[in-house]
Amino acid sequence: MSTRSQRLGPTFQLDGEPRPAEEQQGERPLLAGPLPDRVRHRFPIFRSRLYINSCSQGALSDAVRESYQRYLADWDERGAPWDYWVEKTEDARAAFAGLVNADPDEVAVTTSVSAGLSAVASGLRFARRSKIVTTDWEFPTVGQIWHAQESRGARVVHVEPGEDGTIPFERFEQAIDEDTAIVSITHVCYRNGARVDVDKVTRLAHERGALVFLDAYQSAGSLPLDVRQLGVDFLAAGVLKYLLGSAGLAFLYARRDVIERVWPTATGWFADRNVFEMDHRDYSPAATAARFQSGTPPVPSIYAGIAGIELMQEIGIEDTRKHVLGLNSRLLEGLDELRATVVTPRRPKRRGALICVKSLDAPELVAALGREGIVTSERDGSLRISAHAYNSTEDVDELLAALARHKKLLV
Ligand SMILES: Cc1ncc(COP(=O)(O)O)c(C=O)c1O
Repeated sequence: MSTRSQRLGPTFQLDGEPRPAEEQQGERPLLAGPLPDRVRHRFPIFRSRLYINSCSQGALSDAVRESYQRYLADWDERGAPWDYWVEKTEDARAAFAGLVNADPDEVAVTTSVSAGLSAVASGLRFARRSKIVTTDWEFPTVGQIWHAQESRGARVVHVEPGEDGTIPFERFEQAIDEDTAIVSITHVCYRNGARVDVDKVTRLAHERGALVFLDAYQSAGSLPLDVRQLGVDFLAAGVLKYLLGSAGLAFLYARRDVIERVWPTATGWFADRNVFEMDHRDYSPAATAARFQSGTPPVPSIYAGIAGIELMQEIGIEDTRKHVLGLNSRLLEGLDELRATVVTPRRPKRRGALICVKSLDAPELVAALGREGIVTSERDGSLRISAHAYNSTEDVDELLAALARHKKLLV
């Protein structure tokens, strides 16, 4: 494994002081062998629970726990090392840029998807093109932020899914037109695990002169992401799910050509072209994607986010995708044997890591599984099962056995 400084560039060092505690990592290395045998020992929760809930939150790793300790040690030992913490922010930017194949200048470091999207939305003008096309699969924050633009002259149109749980492409063709300013889609739906055909929708939107915003929160860390291949104009994701970080840190990618076409009015001093100019009589946003930032960066979450992203890179996102695909085909077979109703589309290309199963009482089913030490979650009347690199076939079998015991809660 290469060290962070090798991969993310040099770290700041005060004159004559030893390197910060971060350089002395005490985490255990990954083991040889197939996933999850290689990685599971890094996630202590598996000693007491079967954790299969990464769509809500990734399991805590030794690396992320130690990153918080490093943050506290740096604060303790150095007082207020803000130059260093600003460099850490740049490390986080570079880590996410590497993950999605963007340039660091095309990445804003934000505190949530909401913050990045609000900055983008605030900078769009709806005079020449007034329509925002989005879907019924969006996370509430995305829909709410777009609807908030109605007071600024925008019109929001929702594309609805069909009977089979997928969104027919023709519905995008009907909705996206010459009046569309932006098309806002989610990569993998948090409620049913369905995956949008981003390529196709993006091509159509661009042909019709509209921008594309992609919410990749449910895919980042579980599917390889390449913004050049996806072709989207904006992509946002946080780190607390499949990227194994924690709350408080997210990123917004903005394609180089569109950055200066958007003039955010939801802003802050870390969006300025020169943060340390401290000029309160002027607003000159950065020429880079940093213009979509706001206030003081979330330093503790940045330590954790870098540790999570690095660990996920080390584990391998493509290996994880293949592994989870295998687990999910076993899971789907087992669910069919139980005659459960799966609301996630069957075709592997039309789903992500998340599999959703209808329940008569989803909160009760989550609680019943929880009493047996199995951690899942629920949304919209469905049990959410989301495997990751650390989950094994035994986990899937154990979960299926538990579901058989609670069959009366399945539909
Ligand atoms: C698809 C998706 N988008 C957005 C969010 C939340 O975004 P934010 O970082 O603004 O809380 C979630 C979180 O659960 C999500 O699943």
